[in-house]
Amino acid sequence: MRTPFVGGNWKMNTDRASGVALARAVAEAAAACTGVEVAVFPPFPYLGAIADALHGSRITLGAQDLYYETSGAFTGEVSAAMLLDCGASAVLTGHSERRHVIGESDDLVNRKTRAALDADLTCVLCIGETLDQRERGETHAVNERQLRAALAGVRPERTQRLVIAYEPVWAIGTGRNATPADAQDAHARVRAVLASIFSSDVAASVRIIYGGSLKPDNAEALLARPDVDGGLVGGASLSATDFCTIVRAAEARVARPIA
Ligand code: 13P
Repeated sequence: MRTPFVGGNWKMNTDRASGVALARAVAEAAAACTGVEVAVFPPFPYLGAIADALHGSRITLGAQDLYYETSGAFTGEVSAAMLLDCGASAVLTGHSERRHVIGESDDLVNRKTRAALDADLTCVLCIGETLDQRERGETHAVNERQLRAALAGVRPERTQRLVIAYEPVWAIGTGRNATPADAQDAHARVRAVLASIFSSDVAASVRIIYGGSLKPDNAEALLARPDVDGGLVGGASLSATDFCTIVRAAEARVARPIA
């Protein structure tokens, strides 16, 4: 049985005061949702303040990025050890905005993913196709290429802290979500690729979550699909009420048998 994972990716939003208030509100509203792992990913500068705000709660604190080196002359970068030192225990890698806006390569995503897992951070590795790629029928090929590249050199025992987020680029911030059937199809294929890279046991245990315009009104249908093990939420995670409605939809899934 996979414990659902719901993460709030705040992106470059909030300030210190509103971030702390949002974290406190999420901790309170999600306190009863014990069947779901709930995480928030605030901007770097607020990690310390939000770690304090979440102290004693069951919310996982995550960062939106890391660098793969451990220390040294890498101006502007942040290591896995620094994240742990700030109280974070999770991190995103391969987010589409880092791939397509900042220009991160598959190789860089691989180095970051390995560094995160080697440091025992929960690593939410994001993959997904652009609209052009989708229209050319390349969704599954793109997901497979990104997965194989990002996971090259990852030892099977390191996958215990691996979460995959399928986030079709055309669905992010657009209000256009994948249909539950499309998400299920993509996730099932991602799981088959994990089985081929690692083993069927690893594939069965890794959580594969959906991201892209996940909202209170579409969460229940998306999160009910057997291979959709939770969500990575952008815009709706800036409202504790909306975010926690999605967390509750993930928890409702726990009550249902997983096919
Ligand atoms: P939206 O929920 O705003 O579409 O963002 C999704 C996302 O990128 C989460 O990482």
